[in-house]
Amino acid sequence: MSEALILGLETSCDETSVALLRGESELLGHVILSQDVHEIYGGVVPELAARAHLSVIDDVVAEAVRQAGVSLSDADAIGVTAGPGLIGALLVGVCWAKGAAYGLAKPLVAVHHMEAHLFAPSLEDSEAQPPFVGLLVSGGHTLLLHAERWGRYRLLGETRDDAAGEAFDKVAKLLGLPYPGGPHVEKLAREGDPGRFRFPRPMLRRDQNPADSDFFDFSFSGLKTAVASEVASLRESAEFDSARPDVAASFQAAVVDTLVSKTLRAVEVTGCPRVLIGGGVSANRFLREEMARRLGADGRVFHASPRLSLDNGAMIARAAAFRLGQGEMATDTLTAEAALPFPGLSPRGGV
Ligand code: KG4
Ligand code: ZN
Repeated sequence: MSEALILGLETSCDETSVALLRGESELLGHVILSQDVHEIYGGVVPELAARAHLSVIDDVVAEAVRQAGVSLSDADAIGVTAGPGLIGALLVGVCWAKGAAYGLAKPLVAVHHMEAHLFAPSLEDSEAQPPFVGLLVSGGHTLLLHAERWGRYRLLGETRDDAAGEAFDKVAKLLGLPYPGGPHVEKLAREGDPGRFRFPRPMLRRDQNPADSDFFDFSFSGLKTAVASEVASLRESAEFDSARPDVAASFQAAVVDTLVSKTLRAVEVTGCPRVLIGGGVSANRFLREEMARRLGADGRVFHASPRLSLDNGAMIARAAAFRLGQGEMATDTLTAEAALPFPGLSPRGGV
């Protein structure tokens, strides 16, 4: 029998994306449609996101199916992001998937969006498998975990306030850059001096040890405030315009130093030199390069290409393939959950 063909649907935030995946890595069709309705508001407006998903989802599915050269009824299962994310946006995908699964009499599989980000690199590199230390950095989450095998994760650290991507987006706003800010900050930072401003490395001190509750945790809201006050004083002295690239570079250096340092602590404590970075911020080239440089030749860093680092349906189909293989099928009572718990993630101190 040929490998299962999975239709994956992602609508948790502002990308409507659908993929058809054969087996674990053969991507037959893949459409990612980014919503532009939010641009003028400087951030995602949840109600507009839900409406935009609703108006394009049929066409996005149709185009992915056309690219794949199959028909919808050829799909062996339908995987959908059930959370976490914006509830109205999630519901569009979940309702569509439930209707299709019922109508076509196919299994329905619920996918956790952040677990799917862990699977993204394996779509392009068959070695991107556990065991690894996983750093998940997106617009809504920052998580550090140890994956012993797929589906079994140990939480090491998480953000106590803003997510790493959120910090990029907020600093972009302070610098007058459009949403989503991460790629714009990265581009501006290339022209700047990362050593001009010494921004804080939150929760990163030499005297911490693994028993301290903040050893692996992150906190980015103080960093954002430090950038805001620097920007305010630069504006007063009319140096703002010329200093923008230096602010971007110094901010990026602080975030990346913090993310890499905490990840290296996890490598040391777990004894696992394989690192996987996932989520939108993992598209950042400086983060990838610094992680590889500081991990050294004895380690490996896995990440997806930029297209698959951002939200996409392919990673949802890949995570669904895993869950389906575990015999995990959703029933018709499936609903979206804005704060869906991470499956198989044991709390700190647990096993
Ligand atoms: O995973 P993702 O596409 O959506 C969520 O699940 O949130 O992540 C989006 C986040 C945004 O905050 C965006 O600014 C950030 O990823 N991002 C980046 C880069 N590309 C996207 N941050 C830094 N550098 C980038 N190149
Ligand atoms: Zn995401």
